[in-house]
Amino acid sequence: RTARNQLDLMAAVHETTGERAADPSCSVDQKPHGCSVASRSAPGAFTTRDRSGRVCAMSHKILIAALAATSLVGACKSKPSSVVAPVARPIPMDIHSHAEPNRVRVEHVRLDLTVDFEKQVAVGLAELSLVRTDPTAPLVLDALALRIDEVKGADGSRRDFKLGTPDASLGSALTIQLKPEDESVTVFYRTTPGCEAMQWLAPEQTADGTDPFLFTQGQSILTRSWIPLQDSPGVRVSYSAKIHAPEGLTAVMSAKQHGLKDGAWGFEMKHPIPSYLIALAVGKLEFRELSNRTGVWAEPSVVDACAQELEDTEAMVQSAEKLFGPYRWGRYDMLVLPPAFPFGGMENPRLTFLTPTMFAGDKSLVGLIAHELAHSWSGNLVTNATWRDFWLNEGTTTYIEQRIMEEVYGERRSDMESLLGYDGLLREMEDMAPRDTVLHIDLAGRHPDEGFSGVPYEKGALFLRRMEFDYGRARFDEFLTQYFDDHAFMSITTEEFEAYLTENLLTTGPQPSIRTDLDEWFNEPGLPADAPRPSSTELARVDKALEGLWLSHVPADLDTEGWVTQQWLHFLEGLSAKLTQQEMVDLEEAFAFTSSGNNEILAVWLRLSIATGYSATDARLEQFLMTVGRRKFLQPLYQELARTEAGKQRALEIYASARPRYHSVSTGTIDDILGWEGGGAH
Ligand code: BES
Ligand code: ZN
Repeated sequence: RTARNQLDLMAAVHETTGERAADPSCSVDQKPHGCSVASRSAPGAFTTRDRSGRVCAMSHKILIAALAATSLVGACKSKPSSVVAPVARPIPMDIHSHAEPNRVRVEHVRLDLTVDFEKQVAVGLAELSLVRTDPTAPLVLDALALRIDEVKGADGSRRDFKLGTPDASLGSALTIQLKPEDESVTVFYRTTPGCEAMQWLAPEQTADGTDPFLFTQGQSILTRSWIPLQDSPGVRVSYSAKIHAPEGLTAVMSAKQHGLKDGAWGFEMKHPIPSYLIALAVGKLEFRELSNRTGVWAEPSVVDACAQELEDTEAMVQSAEKLFGPYRWGRYDMLVLPPAFPFGGMENPRLTFLTPTMFAGDKSLVGLIAHELAHSWSGNLVTNATWRDFWLNEGTTTYIEQRIMEEVYGERRSDMESLLGYDGLLREMEDMAPRDTVLHIDLAGRHPDEGFSGVPYEKGALFLRRMEFDYGRARFDEFLTQYFDDHAFMSITTEEFEAYLTENLLTTGPQPSIRTDLDEWFNEPGLPADAPRPSSTELARVDKALEGLWLSHVPADLDTEGWVTQQWLHFLEGLSAKLTQQEMVDLEEAFAFTSSGNNEILAVWLRLSIATGYSATDARLEQFLMTVGRRKFLQPLYQELARTEAGKQRALEIYASARPRYHSVSTGTIDDILGWEGGGAH
């Protein structure tokens, strides 16, 4: 943040503080706490505990603390902005990058790449425009498994460069000696088979089966394996690209597409974004418009079904805008990838990448769209400055996802999803090392992926819920909207978030009687005692059905009329891993889970089948593992298999054939589970 910005922020605090003191709309009498929290009726709402562990309603906590507000006004003495020269805000140190952006920083990347499906490499150049704060310093980039052919200055003459000793996950520092006049350099390079971001798919791995497919996955630190750049989320770049792809295939990127010109696809992203959001896919693609600013790319055979399932996207964008301010990226399009895609979704700006496993035919899994769309604010507009701050991206996004779902599909749906997320977190935390359950996680000496779990997502979202309950929905929404506005196109740390939160919410305006302990939330393991607990009437119905199952009744007796996906998931999660074969047969006969067209349901059922030794699903499991590359599904299945010696042998056999079909993100995780020693990027 520039000093100028900082001052503007302070001025904004003055204004809001003044307004608040005079504004009765948030007083206890007129809008009892939370303005909207109180309006959420008890069933289906969250409950919380005070510090002594007592369960209490959410509506008691706000007391006017006018004094606090007044004293803040005094504390916020801003100087006239003219006396302070705007200073560039230093970029925080990132242990996962070799770059030294406070000396020489890349601010624009121009790519010209040819994708060669035969050799499975991308070849071309990256021209990097520079901001040189230290005129004597070299340019330091990140590069992983790249072959650097040469580096040139703007005058076309060569620059010396050196690739440092590679680190297995961080790659090498690529150090380029600059001439005093260099405002840009051009790196001529090609990717190698060790490229971790790119996955090259054979035609048989696609829906249509006719053409090959390529996609990139940059997050967290994989962009350096297809572009030499400063691969830190604290460094933001705009970019443009020319992509030469085989005739008949379409290239798409996380940028505005200019169409095909002289045999190359042109792109431009004018906003500064972190490098992990630069993304490319090439395949046989068709586009369907969903509204005048949303649409979907997918393979011809599936594009219409995808468009159908995604028809509420515009309504989601509008809800998000209503809650948290304008959508600032122009279009919101989506790309449906083949099932090898390792994630459910990836929030590449202007073009969310999606797994095809979310298409259940009944929109039951579109929470994923709400999530990736939410990143257009939390993550893409305001970005975690380092991977320690990942919870800022995902926690805020999970919270916004729930709010969008509530807005578009109602409270019942969002309550069910919130509770499923919460229960998942509790289950997951049981097996986690305490230090990994800290929001502001210590990643020293570790890959960012080691911080990946439900904690940044769900615990992060619970923290925001805590704030919502303490300050009231109306005020918290206003706070978040202002937060996005004040930090638009910036990358920030947890410390900066904490300071902003303290200044703009925790020490201004009416305060709850009990202030939540930020240090505990951000830096301590586990869930704080004041973590709100979601509840759902719909899922409570399922708990009722589970009560006495096998004792007083069997599955066929259950009244599951009208149950939705979230209820089925809760049901399956509530079943014991100690079910007998007959019980598994009864379940299958009553509900036919093995032939479910819903991949979330199928994945839980397959895991339960492994755990209970129910072999009727063997073929379905193998087929699933051979086609789906989504890590969230693969990880529990391989983990469950690996629990027994026989299961592990079976897993290794399947994995030997399936592994070449998975992305490096997924093999990285599964290799560890199975102790796979074969090596290789994919
Ligand atoms: N940005 C993440 C995916 C990601 C995280 C990629 C970390 C690489 C490193 C994305 O927004 C995400 O969270 N996807 C989830 C969606 C879900 C929580 C709705 C997924 O893929 O399952
Ligand atoms: Zn996310």
